[in-house]
Amino acid sequence: MASLDRFRVSGGVNLRGEVTVTGAKNSVLKLMAASLLATGKTTITNVPEIADVEIMSDLLTRLGCAVIHSKDSVTIDVPALPGHRADYDLVRKMRASINVLGPLVARIGKAEVALPGGDAIGSRGLDFHIKGLESLGAKAHIEHGYVIAQADAGLTGAIVVLDFPSVGATENIMTAAVLAKGVTTIDNAAREPDVIDLGDFLISMGAQIEGLGTPLITITGVEKLSPTTHATIPDRIITGTWAFAAAMTKGDITIHGARAGDLELPLEKLASAGAIITTMADGIRVRMDSRPQAIDVATLPYPGFPTDLLPMVIALNSIADGHSLVTENVFESRFMFVNELIRLGAQISVDGHHASIDGVPELSSAPVEATDIRAGAGLVLAALVSDGETTIDAAFHIDRGYPNFAEQLVSLGAKVRRE
Ligand code: UD1
Repeated sequence: MASLDRFRVSGGVNLRGEVTVTGAKNSVLKLMAASLLATGKTTITNVPEIADVEIMSDLLTRLGCAVIHSKDSVTIDVPALPGHRADYDLVRKMRASINVLGPLVARIGKAEVALPGGDAIGSRGLDFHIKGLESLGAKAHIEHGYVIAQADAGLTGAIVVLDFPSVGATENIMTAAVLAKGVTTIDNAAREPDVIDLGDFLISMGAQIEGLGTPLITITGVEKLSPTTHATIPDRIITGTWAFAAAMTKGDITIHGARAGDLELPLEKLASAGAIITTMADGIRVRMDSRPQAIDVATLPYPGFPTDLLPMVIALNSIADGHSLVTENVFESRFMFVNELIRLGAQISVDGHHASIDGVPELSSAPVEATDIRAGAGLVLAALVSDGETTIDAAFHIDRGYPNFAEQLVSLGAKVRRE
């Protein structure tokens, strides 16, 4: 049973070697959902081998698509009239399921998508998604745990101003607006590389979009989109995880396929911790010779420090030289895993959105449990700098974001086993 899987990690090794980063989870799932916008076969390449891709495939299959995987690509054959309901059993397993909302309303004028509910990092609203679709002329309400959206006469372009640059809301509004009549502007839009990747994908289907990567996205609706072929961008969070792993273990890791431009702030922070970072034609090399210096970090929407790297920065600060303050600004509660780090001997106190950390020279192994994908990866990094053997339970969380993590760690010299 997957839920009984655990990682067993022996600390004390300097990670050295080369890894190749896979396609971004946070991008590929959105691309798969957006394939619903065109009848026919869309192919996405550079697809990572993760459980969420299977869940999205199941969801699209239930909507009437034929989904075919081959090696690292997936082809989605979309029928002329897809279904309109995303059931709770799938949505609860994977929040990115809500990304079918925009495409379905745009394509067939209706959608029923289960509310994903809260998760280990806090409650995550859908109000901006709903308000955005309403601005485009849809009627939307919540009934029996589902968002029910309807646009019998189609959607019409509008000015949408977001209270917060939400990634998910920007994506749902953009994928609805591409087939609306007239022009839509999204003000205070998210600027994440995943949003740009989705925009580029839509443009390759024939959409008219300007301003990707800026806070003002302008979309001129077109009548019809065509299927496309598109390569997923590399995963910046996995890249960042390897970069932190190199810095924490006083290692030397070359990350092939990584894009330094997607990680400017995290790499700058690592440099101020003492890491030597070299950007190469096809990736990044991160090297560290001494104990890291503590770094203060506040998470923010892109180009700010990514919330998904919060566990890694707290893990690094736990063994860094000095005191640091880490602030979480995107989610309500992302500090649950801090209790697990404290079990490893970290000196951390949490006050609301702030974690105050006094670095210790080394952590001390103990059994811990992953509470979500990124917390799990952060705990593995902490285990790598603990004396003795640490077990990390609920490894299935880690598998959701990191294909072949244990194998890749072993290839860098780590003593890691899955059991
Ligand atoms: C977020 C991250 C994204 C990351 C992903 C997976 C940001 C800005 N977004 O995207 O980089 O890859 O998690 O971990 O860092 N909110 C509302 N109402 C809404 C939508 C959002 O209140 O309708 C709030 C959320 O509760 C949250 C914040 O806005 O506090 C950011 O949400 P959003 O960017 O939409 O989250 P994700 O799309 O999941």
